[in-house]
Amino acid sequence: MKLAIFASGNGSNFQAIADAVTNGTIAAELTLLFCDRKNAYAIQRAKALMIPVISFSPKDFSSKALYEAEILHLLEEEQIELIVLAGYMRIIGPTLLEVFSGRIINIHPSLLPDFPGLSGIEEAFSAKVPETGVTIHYIDDGIDTGPIIAQEKVKIKSYDTLETLERKIHKIEHELYPKILAKLIKTRQGESRS
Ligand code: GRF
Repeated sequence: MKLAIFASGNGSNFQAIADAVTNGTIAAELTLLFCDRKNAYAIQRAKALMIPVISFSPKDFSSKALYEAEILHLLEEEQIELIVLAGYMRIIGPTLLEVFSGRIINIHPSLLPDFPGLSGIEEAFSAKVPETGVTIHYIDDGIDTGPIIAQEKVKIKSYDTLETLERKIHKIEHELYPKILAKLIKTRQGESRS
């Protein structure tokens, strides 16, 4: 199974998944990192691991459809089977979604359907809810609305600050994402053999 990870920033989830591929927990090939921001730290992480990087921005194209058509072309050339979003800060449009429907996975730092969008951790913290968490889900045409694959809860304690909560959430992400991907890929490989 050939995977492409899409990231836009720090890439700590990319790192956790890449490490799980390297140590054999995830039985797949991490074929490439796609990054829409040329200065994202995720790119340096990929280079250090000798994972090929493709990087361009929608600004380089006259439309989002053309931007995604170029990504699609590269993914098809590499025979990518699964797209793993790891802090990719853009909405996946119809060009990619139609071809990869049911094959794009995302991680979101809240217990969806609560707190979708760009600030899941901050919004849960400000709302003073007793718990939040991490969700792994398939992408559909909404914002953080696709079918849920797995969730893990995190308690927000009275002594938590936004920073401590962020740390707790990221720690869970780095464990949960590789674990769930490993399971999902194993199941898919079993299905394609039978
Ligand atoms: C993570 O919190 C993830 O849930 C969200 O974006 C953040 C990416 O962090 N979608 P990183 O770039 O993987 O460090």
